[in-house]
Amino acid sequence: MNLIDRVAALEAELKNAQARTADEVERFRVAMLGRNGAVTELFDAFRQVAPEEKRTLGPRMNQLKQLAQQRLEELKGALGSEAESGSDDLDLSAPARTGHMGSLHPITIVRQRIVDVFTRIGYTVSQGPEVEDDRHNFSALNFPPDHPARDMQDTFFVQGGDLALRTHTSSVQVRVMESGKPAIRTISPGRVYRNEAISARAHCMFHQVEALYVDEGVSFADLKGTLDYFTKSLFGPEVSIRMRPSYFPFTEPSAEVDMSCTVCGGTGCNLCKHSGWVEIMGCGMVDPAVLANCGIDPERYSGFALGMGVERITQLIYRVPDLRMYWENDVRFLDQFTAGTFRS
Ligand code: DAH
Repeated sequence: MNLIDRVAALEAELKNAQARTADEVERFRVAMLGRNGAVTELFDAFRQVAPEEKRTLGPRMNQLKQLAQQRLEELKGALGSEAESGSDDLDLSAPARTGHMGSLHPITIVRQRIVDVFTRIGYTVSQGPEVEDDRHNFSALNFPPDHPARDMQDTFFVQGGDLALRTHTSSVQVRVMESGKPAIRTISPGRVYRNEAISARAHCMFHQVEALYVDEGVSFADLKGTLDYFTKSLFGPEVSIRMRPSYFPFTEPSAEVDMSCTVCGGTGCNLCKHSGWVEIMGCGMVDPAVLANCGIDPERYSGFALGMGVERITQLIYRVPDLRMYWENDVRFLDQFTAGTFRS
């Protein structure tokens, strides 16, 4: 048989080839494309022919090789789909190959829980811009012009100092009071920024939730009752709170809120530095000057405000030892959190 006839015969053989098992596919591959396979042998023979014949036969030889490779892929592919449709190779008892299930970020889980606790008692959720002007971040909140928080060391200024990345969510209080009338009952969760060196205990970006309640006759007792309800809802009925006098420019009086340590229950451990208490937020009665700055009559209305760091609350719930872990995007860390494992 001359070469051209052998090519034609092999083409026909390739087109008709069948294989029902992986072994048969492999046998086909060896018989055609293996070192002593039919296609390979034809190429050996082709190498011996005269140059003109090579020119005419060359493209046909290439097509033959392509056909063999294509047929091999087809036979392999047919095997796969046969397995799916129920061949003996399918093991229905094998463990399922499921996809990777992501989970919410721990900060998102805890933020949602905080929001839930407040919306249950009638608070709305308000948002404000992360790039703020001086009035909303500082001056309407009674920050004197020389207050250290305005310092370049604490605040990321933009546009030559006219604007800044908000240093707290208290700026949203001002926006809500400017644009609405009491009764106001709102919380503002969001990202805030401070120009701090990143360490286990500090980050240049973190999250706060602010709460504001302004109406006629709002008292310090309302604030304390709300704090008690909030901490018990989030951490469990066994926790207690205490308030320590403090200072914030926008509240008078101001207090820092401590909660009995969730690890030792108040007897003293590493987390609470053996004091039995952990600090969870700042709060106070809205300074009358702030109400007036925002167009609310301080003679008629009073209010309280509070602000907490979501990273801190999350740390107390999940015992996260280092703030940096939240934002390193290491899935081995992030995979440990699911909304379902939340303690409440
Ligand atoms: N804005 C304060 C901070 O970032 C937190 C805070 C304290 C908010 C007292 C308040 C408050 O509303 O009343 O440190």
